[in-house]
Amino acid sequence: MVINMDRMNELIELINQANYEYYVLDNPTLTDQEYDRYMQELIKIEQMHPEWIRNDSPTKRVGGDVISKFKKIVHKKPMLSLSNVFNEEEIRLFDEKIKKEVIPNYVCELKIDGLSVSLLYEKGKLIRGATRGDGITGEDITHNVKTIKTIPLVLKKPIDIEVRGEIYMSKKNFDDLNQIRKSKGEELLANPRNAAAGSVRQLDSKIAASRNLECFIYHLPNPDDFGIKTHYESLQFMKDLGFNVNPNIELVENIDEVIKYIFKWTEQREILPYEIDGIVIKTNDFKQQAILGFTSKCPKWATAYKFPALEVLTKLKDIIFTVGRTGQVTPNAVLEPVRLMGSIISRATLHNEDYVLSKHIKIGDVVAIRKAGDVIPEVVSVKKERRNGTERTFVMADVCPICHTKLEKKDTAYYCVNDKCDKKIIENLIHFVSRDAMYIEGFGERIVEDFYNMGYLKSILDFYELAKYKEELKELEGFGDKSINNLLENIEKSKSNSLERLLFGLGIRYVGKQTSKILAKNYINIDSLMNASYEELISIKDIGEAIAKSVVEYFNNNQKIIEKLKSYGLNMSYLGKININEEFNNKTFVLTGTLSEITRNEAKEIIEQLGGHVSSSVSQKTSVVIVGESPGSKYSTALNLGISIWNEEEFLNKIKK
Ligand code: IVH
Repeated sequence: MVINMDRMNELIELINQANYEYYVLDNPTLTDQEYDRYMQELIKIEQMHPEWIRNDSPTKRVGGDVISKFKKIVHKKPMLSLSNVFNEEEIRLFDEKIKKEVIPNYVCELKIDGLSVSLLYEKGKLIRGATRGDGITGEDITHNVKTIKTIPLVLKKPIDIEVRGEIYMSKKNFDDLNQIRKSKGEELLANPRNAAAGSVRQLDSKIAASRNLECFIYHLPNPDDFGIKTHYESLQFMKDLGFNVNPNIELVENIDEVIKYIFKWTEQREILPYEIDGIVIKTNDFKQQAILGFTSKCPKWATAYKFPALEVLTKLKDIIFTVGRTGQVTPNAVLEPVRLMGSIISRATLHNEDYVLSKHIKIGDVVAIRKAGDVIPEVVSVKKERRNGTERTFVMADVCPICHTKLEKKDTAYYCVNDKCDKKIIENLIHFVSRDAMYIEGFGERIVEDFYNMGYLKSILDFYELAKYKEELKELEGFGDKSINNLLENIEKSKSNSLERLLFGLGIRYVGKQTSKILAKNYINIDSLMNASYEELISIKDIGEAIAKSVVEYFNNNQKIIEKLKSYGLNMSYLGKININEEFNNKTFVLTGTLSEITRNEAKEIIEQLGGHVSSSVSQKTSVVIVGESPGSKYSTALNLGISIWNEEEFLNKIKK
C-alpha cells in the first residue's frame, strides 16, 4: 500500500466521484467491493496521518464529528418562506396578480416535505451547512450535513457558491427507523419530516449518518454571480455542479399547464419514494422575479399549492351507538369538530367492536381521522403519547340503544333483532325514498322521522296512503300547500320507476343497487322474479347463494306487501333499454374524480345503457378510466397499467355521438 498525500488525494477524488454517481446519478460505476477497498485504504492513510485529513474527505460521511452546541449563523440573504394557495381559484388569482406586472412562464416543482438548508461552498468545497432558523439566523449543522451522501463535499468546479434545498428522509428509511425504534421500545417518530429535522439537530454526527438523509437542491440565491438568467437554467447549472436536483421539475407556459402538473402529482405522489406536501410554482425569469419582488416574508413570484390534509387530529369526546336499517349497531366517535378536506367533521365511524379494540381506542383520546374513500370519515389511529390518564375504556353495547332488545352477534357485528325497533323501521323508510332507491324528492331524513313519530308513516306502504291526510299535513308546522303538493306529486311520480329501484328500496338482505339491476334485467317483471327458484337464481352470473336464498325468503314472506304496492299502481317492470354502442359494449369502466356536467350515477346509468359495466376499482381488466376533477388514486393506477383514459369532455362527446 502506498502511503503518501497524493494517493490520499486520489482516493478522495475516486470515492467522492463514486458517491456522486451512486447517490445523485443513481448510476454506480464502481462495484461495492472496489468502493470498500478504496474507503479502507483512505481510512488507513488518515489514521496514520491525522494531520493530513481533509475537511472534504468522504470518511466524514460516516459521522464522528461531535459539537458541543449549535453555532448561530446569519444568512447572507434571508431564507424566505412561501405563501400558500389551497385550490384552483387561489392558484388562478396568484397568476392574475403576476400577469398585472409581467407575462410569466412558470417552473413547477414538488414541495419536498423536509427542512430547508443553506449550503456554502468555497473554491468548490463544502464549508458550511445551516438550517433556516427564523430565516435571518439559522444554526450551523455542517457536521451533520457532511454525512448526507446526496450533498457533494466537492463540486465539479472550484467556485464560491451558496445553494439552498431540502433535507428529507425517504419513506423507506423512515419506516425502517421506526421499526428499529419499535423493537427497542422507543417512542415512534410522527413523520419523515420530524425524523429528518430531529436527525440534523443532533450534536453527534454519527446519529445523522445512521439516518441516511437525502437532499434536493432547488434554489440559487445569487444567480447574477454566474450570469444565469432564469430559474430553470439555474437548476441545470446546479445539477452540472454535482447537486441532486429533483428530476420531476417542469418548465411550463401558463397557469393551465401548472394546474395540469398539480393534477398529475396529486395523483402520483403516493408512488414517490419520499413525501411531498404540495407543489411549488415559481416564475422562471429572474428579471420578472425582480419586478414582482417580495412581501416581508415571501417572494411574490412564487407560491406553494398545499395538498389538502388527508388526516387530521382531534379529540374523541364520546362513543355512541347507532342502529342501521339492517339492525346493525355500530360504534361512532363523537369528535371535537375539525375541518378535513373542505368539511367540518364531528362524527366518524368506528366500524365495530373489533375495530375499536384492535386500535386500542379510548374515550378521551386524541385520534387521527381520515375520510375513507374520500367520503365517510373514520378514526384511523390513536395518539397514545397524548394521553393524560383520564381516558375511559370502551365497552360495546349489549342492548339496542333505541329499543333495549338484547343484541345478537353475527361475525364481527352486533344486531338488534327486534323488527319493531323504531330506528330500524325509520332507517328502512329513509332507504326506500333515497336517491338510489325510489328517489322520492322532498323526503329528507328529518321529515321521514317526524312523519313516523306522528304516525303517518309506519311502513313503506304508507307513502302511498299519505294523500289521504293531505289537509292535515298542510297544517303541520313548516309545511304548506305547496310543499305538501310537491311531496305528493313526487310520491305519485315514483310509481313509474323502473323495477330495479323498487327492488333496491325494499331493502332485501344482500340485494344492493347492483344486484337489483341484475335481477330486474334478468326477470323484467316482479312476477317472474317472485316465481324464480333458488337454483334458477344462482345460475345467474353474479348472483351467489346468499343473495338467492335471501331473495326467495323475502318474496315468500312479503307477498302481501308486493300485492299492495301493485294495487297503488306502482310499476313492477324493468324499463331500461339496452342501446348497444361499440365503444362501450362489454367494456369495463371506472370513474374517478368529480364530473362537472353530469353526476356519477347518471354517467353510470348511461354507460350501462350503452352496454358497458362500471366497476369501482382499476385492474388489468379495466377498459377505460374516466377522469373528472380531483381524481383519486385510480387515475395513477390506470396510468401505471397503461389503461385508456378519457377526460370528461371525451366521455361526453362519445355519449353524445
Ligand atoms: S423554494 C424563495 N422550492 O417549502 C424560495 N421550497 O413553505 C424559497 N420547500 O421553506 C423556497 N420544496 O423548506 C422551494 N421545491 C421547493 C421546495 C421548497 C420544499 C420548502 C422549503 C420552504 C418551504 C416553504
